[in-house]
Amino acid sequence: MKKSLSLEEKEKLETIYYSYLNNPLIDRMKDVSMHRGSNCYIHSFLVAKLAIKRALRRKKELDLETILVASILHDYYLYDWRSDRSLLKHHGSKHPYIAVDNAKMDFDISDKVASLIMSHMWPINFKCFPKTTEARIVCNADTWIAFKEFLCSKVYKAKRVQKRQSMISELF
Ligand SMILES: [Fe+2]
Ligand SMILES: [Fe+2]
Repeated sequence: MKKSLSLEEKEKLETIYYSYLNNPLIDRMKDVSMHRGSNCYIHSFLVAKLAIKRALRRKKELDLETILVASILHDYYLYDWRSDRSLLKHHGSKHPYIAVDNAKMDFDISDKVASLIMSHMWPINFKCFPKTTEARIVCNADTWIAFKEFLCSKVYKAKRVQKRQSMISELF
């Protein structure tokens, strides 16, 4: 870790993280299946952990709270695209908009968080380029976690879900 956080900064981030981790609204993401061996809830918290880890490696001063909240809510679209062909068609490019609408409805998110959610699917959602370092960190962390989930074989699916569930219980 290149950047070290003060105890106060660390506690602030942890408070935000746990407030989402233990939120019944966020719990609904557990019912949304993701790439192999994961669900939207586990996926989003893994992205959040990785994004914060990568942000702390940067020398540049970054908005960690925005990175954290945007990562947790980046896939807050709350529908199963596998269950309906019409949803599947434009899922890749449309779900960031739906996630932002849902997040605005359920949480008090900033415009900066909204813009990071919007750009997390670049280049699939070509119109929304991740312009800031924060946006690129969220976008890249999402791609990396999705890639790792995709590589997971079905045989080890149950084991991996358990492991991932325990991995997200703490932010640091
Ligand atoms: Fe996404
Ligand atoms: Fe994602």
